[in-house]
Amino acid sequence: MGYGLLKGKTGIIFGALDHKSIAWKVAERCVEEGAHIVLTNAPVALRMGEINELATKLKSEIIPADATSLEDLEHLISKSMEIFGGKIDFMLHSIGMSVNVRKKKEYTDLNYEWMKTTFDISAISFHKLMQTAMKLDAMNQSGSILALTYIAAQRTFPDYSEMAESKALLESFARSFGYHWAKKAGVRVNTISQSPTVTTAGSGVKGFSDFFGYADKMSPLGNASSDACADYCVAMFSDLTKYVTMQNLFHDGGFSSMGMAPEVLD
Ligand SMILES: NC(=O)c1ccc[n+]([C@@H]2O[C@H](COP(=O)([O-])OP(=O)(O)OC[C@H]3O[C@@H](n4cnc5c(N)ncnc54)[C@H](O)[C@@H]3O)[C@@H](O)[C@H]2O)c1
Repeated sequence: MGYGLLKGKTGIIFGALDHKSIAWKVAERCVEEGAHIVLTNAPVALRMGEINELATKLKSEIIPADATSLEDLEHLISKSMEIFGGKIDFMLHSIGMSVNVRKKKEYTDLNYEWMKTTFDISAISFHKLMQTAMKLDAMNQSGSILALTYIAAQRTFPDYSEMAESKALLESFARSFGYHWAKKAGVRVNTISQSPTVTTAGSGVKGFSDFFGYADKMSPLGNASSDACADYCVAMFSDLTKYVTMQNLFHDGGFSSMGMAPEVLD
């Protein structure tokens, strides 16, 4: 059941690949709360086709965009404003991909060309998105921009590899650009640091299923689900959080504050 928290608002959701994607749940919840959204993903992901099912269900348009391409981002934002008949209230960056992890390169033997691609897709794309939206004057007053991140930005999780540095960069972009967006139009920019979640990107990390169980035991509330993450994103897009900006917000059942949990020793 919706509460009308996003009634009349417009938004762009990146990263819904299949029904397990966190962005898929966020898109569903945003529409349930009254938003009009545009879905986007890389052309290669769109060819897999599942996103069409979501678009039909939500009566949303899909605009392809490789998030590393300024041309694609410009087209996406301009076209979205045309569809909405005005500016945009919120955007979700839910994008992550590591070339070295995908190609099973060890952290002590990384390929630096691949690393650049990883950073471009997973972090620099967030800056590109915000810069393009600013140049096009695309955000409404008091809008909200979010990106999804992981605690490996602050602590060491060896199998997360170069994605740790990608997330550190992503979170830093949220703080730095958050200043400029606040000054320009009172727009909030935050990152949500989510629990391990069973998705295509999540499951690509070595030892994911064992780690998922460990994190669940370490978190007093248990791992936060993708549905719960969608609820949190809705709250952050709504008018109820207008003074939260330039923050990295942990949505992890308490994991980030724990030192030791007796449950892990059982
Ligand atoms: N799953 C987890 O355990 C977990 C935990 C914390 C944070 N996150 C973050 O959540 C976000 C969403 O991931 P997910 O777990 O839902 O997995 P997912 O695989 O469903 O989503 C990743 C998305 O990134 C898109 N993408 C890749 N390259 C792109 C490009 N060049 N241009 C545009 N889109 C591109 C993919 O097509 C896909 O839709 C990521 O930032 C991820 O790091 C995931």
